[in-house]
Amino acid sequence: MYTGLLHSHSYMTYLVLLGLLISFISALIGLFGKRIFSDGDRKIALLGLIPAHLQWVIGLILYFVSPRGASNFSGAAMGDSISRLYILEHPLTMVIAVVLITIGYSRAKRMVGTDKGFKSIAIFYGIGLLLILIRIPWVSWPGN
Ligand code: HEM
Repeated sequence: MYTGLLHSHSYMTYLVLLGLLISFISALIGLFGKRIFSDGDRKIALLGLIPAHLQWVIGLILYFVSPRGASNFSGAAMGDSISRLYILEHPLTMVIAVVLITIGYSRAKRMVGTDKGFKSIAIFYGIGLLLILIRIPWVSWPGN
């Protein structure tokens, strides 16, 4: 169970990053091209939203299964920067990132047919992507 979840969480990270990158770049192109945000553009934004949501669910389960997650919580572990990353910083930052991405998508969804949707995706997905990048455990991912 643990190994399967860890592999899923690891491989899903490629999809999360790819989906967010495609959505973000496409939003920037739409924004600077002063285009109208269409239903097709909304679907492109889903490429960023769906993998991030799936990853969130896998991560949450992993948190209670992994020896590096909740079961490792102690004062001593919080004093160690790598342990603290897995116990607190990574999960918390990723939850904030996924919430921001969800807000960006929900706002943009209501802006189909206007020129404002791209800005919502660019800002919220941009910040979300940045948060994900600064708190991915680069010490263990992508591994070898
Ligand atoms: C977009 C969201 C997320 C991304 C991109 C992400 C990415 C990653 C990556 C790349 C790793 C390292 C995997 C490896 O060593 O092979 C990892 C580990 C981990 N993640 Fe996430 N994660 C996300 C969300 C979450 C959430 C929401 C939680 C918990 C609530 C979580 C809990 C964990 C735990 C406990 C580990 C350590 C697993 C272990 O090595 O035993 N992740 N994550």
